[in-house]
Amino acid sequence: MTANKTQSLYDKAKRLIPGGAQLLSKRPEMMAPGVWPAYFSKAKGTRVWDLDGNAYTDMSILGVGAVILGYADDEVDDAVVAAVRNGVATSLNCPEEVALAELLTTMHPWADMVRYARSGGEAMAMAVRIARAATGRDTVLFSGYHGWMDWYLAANLDGDALDGQLLPGLAPNGVPKGLAGTAIPFFFNDIAALHEKIAGREREIAAIVVEPARGEEAPRQYLDSLVATAGRIGATLIFDEITSAFRMNAGGIHLRYGVAPDMAVFAKSMANGYAMAAVIGRREVMEAAQTTFISSTNWTERVGPAAALATIGKYVRENAAEHICAIGRAVQTLWRGAADRHGLSVRVSGLPSLCHLDFPGEYSRERATFFTIAMLARGFLGYRQFKPCLAHALDDVSAYGQAVDEVFAAMAATDPAALLSTPVAHAGFVRLTPE
Ligand SMILES: Cc1ncc(COP(=O)(O)O)c(C=O)c1O
Repeated sequence: MTANKTQSLYDKAKRLIPGGAQLLSKRPEMMAPGVWPAYFSKAKGTRVWDLDGNAYTDMSILGVGAVILGYADDEVDDAVVAAVRNGVATSLNCPEEVALAELLTTMHPWADMVRYARSGGEAMAMAVRIARAATGRDTVLFSGYHGWMDWYLAANLDGDALDGQLLPGLAPNGVPKGLAGTAIPFFFNDIAALHEKIAGREREIAAIVVEPARGEEAPRQYLDSLVATAGRIGATLIFDEITSAFRMNAGGIHLRYGVAPDMAVFAKSMANGYAMAAVIGRREVMEAAQTTFISSTNWTERVGPAAALATIGKYVRENAAEHICAIGRAVQTLWRGAADRHGLSVRVSGLPSLCHLDFPGEYSRERATFFTIAMLARGFLGYRQFKPCLAHALDDVSAYGQAVDEVFAAMAATDPAALLSTPVAHAGFVRLTPE
């Protein structure tokens, strides 16, 4: 493994780009500082090549969950190339956005109308604006992570409320202080806390925003209570499906539970890594979009809808969810098996399509960082998350299993305090200062 071009480009990036990258989860410091290859030159299927000519099988986050079919999928890319060849942005609109709206509302029969954006955070801001416009109210109750926008970061104007919601350390600098009190968090599956926070302000709540399921399957009762509570107080129930959709099934994960929100938001995997996002909802809520101003030039371009139509078409035809879950289950099983064989303590969690591996106890982060570094040396992008895609083959899994076995053996045999000769991976948001 050589790393010269990759590392020196990232050093330059940190001088030119605050934080080095556009997405926290793609900072190499989150995986293995100074070792994780920050840049790719090309990718195909499950293979990624860095700038120094090293090739890796990606058994990590696959475009942070966006790449659901595999890198550079021919069918999706052919649809994109055809769109590009016929013009992407003209003075007229692209018909693909109507076809996609029809497809999404057919897949989610409770929804009548659709608006588009091109990133998840942007689409969440759109959904919250529509909910506020529809209800004439300001306050949003939420659990989980929903992006970088003001409506969400406002929760931290009152302290560090977001620390328990996936990403610790998010500072609300630059968010108007006047938004304090407009975004109030509660924890997943804690209906009692939700009711407590609502009490006395029933007529102020514009929206309840949740990921219907993320770490584990959603308790059905939790989702039913959310529907009942939102209905009782006249708030809009928004399901953020940006990470959860198209992982366990075609469309939103809420379809598995037979529970319908007022709006649902998609991004990431709906277009296999191309920029695309959608807000779908009931007619009476979505029409409030016409009473406020929600409009952007790049939301009219053609690549996103063309990629989404091709991605969803292939996903459904090939029953991608079944394969993705089978691959995920095989990886969760091999993590457990290798840990048992070597007497290493691990915690394996997550849905089979969003797998997590932790090394509980002291030296947890050191062990996770070592795991990543040792997997790189064996030709894998390996991390404490694994987001399987349709292109993962059983051969990938068995080669990965062998490498995991070697790495767990080494980890079990080494004093954890002496595992690392490079810095430990970051756990949340921290300021990066160029060296
Ligand atoms: C549940 C959820 N909501 C919102 C977002 C933000 O989406 P994006 O990064 O596309 O802005 C993410 C991204 O990780 C997410 O997982």
